[in-house]
Amino acid sequence: MKFFSKCLLFFHGLTALTVAQQIVTDAKAACGKLGASLAIENVHINFVQYLPAGTNISLTQNYNLSSCGYVSQVVSNDLCRVAMYVATSYRSGITLEAWLPTNWTGRFLSTGNGGIGGCIQYADLAYAAGLGFATVGANNGHNGTSGYAFYRNMDVVHDFVDRSLHTGVVVGKEIVKRYYGAAHKKSYYLGCSTGGRQGFKAVQSYPNDFDGVVAGAPAIDFTDLTSWSASFYTIFGSANDSTFVPAGELWALIHQEILNQCDSMDGVVDDIIEDPLMCQFRPEALQCPPGTTNFTSCLTNVQVSAVREAFTDFYGLDGKIIYPRMQPGSELIAEDIYYTTGPFPYSVDWFRYVVYNNPNWNAATFNRLDAKAAADQNPFNIQTWNGDLSDFRAAGGKLLTYHGQADYIISSDNSPRYYDHVSRTMGLPSSDLDEFYRFFRISGMGHCGGGVGAHAIGQTEAEVSTLDPQNNVLLRMVDWVENGNAPVTVTGTKYINDDPSQGVSFVRNHCKYPLRNFCTDGANYKSPESWTCIE
Ligand SMILES: *[C@@H]1O[C@H](CO)[C@@H](O)[C@H](O)[C@H]1NC(C)=O
Ligand SMILES: *[C@@H]1O[C@H](CO)[C@@H](O)[C@H](O)[C@H]1NC(C)=O
Ligand SMILES: *[C@@H]1O[C@H](CO)[C@@H](O)[C@H](O)[C@H]1NC(C)=O
Ligand SMILES: *[C@@H]1O[C@H](CO)[C@@H](O)[C@H](O)[C@H]1NC(C)=O
Ligand SMILES: *[C@@H]1O[C@H](CO)[C@@H](O)[C@H](O)[C@H]1NC(C)=O
Ligand SMILES: *[C@@H]1O[C@H](CO)[C@@H](O)[C@H](O)[C@H]1NC(C)=O
Repeated sequence: MKFFSKCLLFFHGLTALTVAQQIVTDAKAACGKLGASLAIENVHINFVQYLPAGTNISLTQNYNLSSCGYVSQVVSNDLCRVAMYVATSYRSGITLEAWLPTNWTGRFLSTGNGGIGGCIQYADLAYAAGLGFATVGANNGHNGTSGYAFYRNMDVVHDFVDRSLHTGVVVGKEIVKRYYGAAHKKSYYLGCSTGGRQGFKAVQSYPNDFDGVVAGAPAIDFTDLTSWSASFYTIFGSANDSTFVPAGELWALIHQEILNQCDSMDGVVDDIIEDPLMCQFRPEALQCPPGTTNFTSCLTNVQVSAVREAFTDFYGLDGKIIYPRMQPGSELIAEDIYYTTGPFPYSVDWFRYVVYNNPNWNAATFNRLDAKAAADQNPFNIQTWNGDLSDFRAAGGKLLTYHGQADYIISSDNSPRYYDHVSRTMGLPSSDLDEFYRFFRISGMGHCGGGVGAHAIGQTEAEVSTLDPQNNVLLRMVDWVENGNAPVTVTGTKYINDDPSQGVSFVRNHCKYPLRNFCTDGANYKSPESWTCIE
């Protein structure tokens, strides 16, 4: 294959990301040839296709993945698409795709997954490939969103824990070499939720896979998270239980009371709690007085107890914390995930198909012994809780993590808990951790995106405001790895009705933990200049 290289500005006006871009000549022919020449151990090529910019690929025809909710994906730049099956054992394997842009920056990137699936994240493939990364994405070892594939097959569990991601990286880097005739220069990771856990797993166990890892809302301390997620059904029960707090009015009341008690702590009342760690919500404020007959605007003492339990750290029988409380602020969505809708499906599947191998396990019986059984099993160390990141640090790796402070699935309290765990384990203060590990709390962001806060930080294609690294965590990571420009704050954008065509509602700089955001000019709280990061 023949190439020519030339220096150009990757993004207009952004000298920080200047890069020698490599352009594949006659990419269509090169892509066709790649398919014929790709003999890699354990890799079976499903198909190779050249996709011109603007192609709208249908994801319904060749796939049997209706639970992933795929319809189509638009490809924003010319690329060569390689779809593969890679065997990981005699009874397991991954579906893997590599998207190889014709205009290549020399950068490699792996995407991650979500929940307990089973779904290649095509939107992330398109996002990263569109920015010039040679990008891979795998299905994490099984198809669809159910955990049924784990049943009596620990090899599929192994893929889910870390083998799918690592295999995709090894195979993907090899394909890059064959297609471009040169190895990648820098390697990146982008993922959130389970994808966040996968990123932390790579940092902990495969410290040479990536130079830069962007990992949001990580599902780390995984079995404990899964147990905590299971606990809500036993706290609130179902509709006819006295502990039940029905969806709607009462949860709106609880949310408003949380804002009443905590919103002003950051210097302004704007419906956004900057630092939920400071919020010790007191649900007793909503206790119905004696003689109440109308229970639509207050809570019974049994309900108050249930709500208090949801906002209290979850402790094991040994008196040690299993997983932190739900952070206050996310109730308007969390009510539909955890509090009023029955057992949490991911937890049910994990206990049925991994912990107990019993498809009839009943979520209503969940208790702290089950949490212990899950933690003791910890298959392939899925906990992802190793606090010693020395190898990653020594390899020169950089980790940027963020967590929405109104996350309604994974408590945002868990991310500072891990950061502090690393600080103690490695004996490093923040000034030293800053060299390779920076954690940003994104106020008012829900689970990986959305929410009342300034949540567009470039974490996905749908959450891009600009390609300025200050506004874009992925490009900030590139700038950190390649130019040493580490993030001090991360700037988020909130669009009016989350619709960019309606204009910007406000912009806010999010602080690096352990700093917290404080408003010094409440009258102008929409202006980023009104905020400052304080100890
Ligand atoms: C892509 O195709 C799907 C149907 O296959 C359609 O619903 C969607 O609107 C198309 N997207 C674009 C941007 O044209
Ligand atoms: C997942 O789906 C792909 C595409 O249909 C298929 O090739 C692969 O065999 C499936 N994997 C499993 C484990 O069923
Ligand atoms: C494909 O989907 C059908 C219907 O949902 C299901 O019965 C079947 O098992 C699936 N096949 C595979 C290989 O996943
Ligand atoms: C690739 O880069 C060249 C040179 O900058 C440019 O002319 C061309 O439009 C680019 N092609 C694509 C598909 O982005
Ligand atoms: C609640 O009780 C009513 C009346 O006894 C019954 O019809 C309904 O099925 C029960 N709902 C649940 C979720 O148990
Ligand atoms: C109960 O209180 C709510 C809200 O305060 C009110 O809208 C509703 O009409 C009351 N119901 C009764 C039966 O009084």
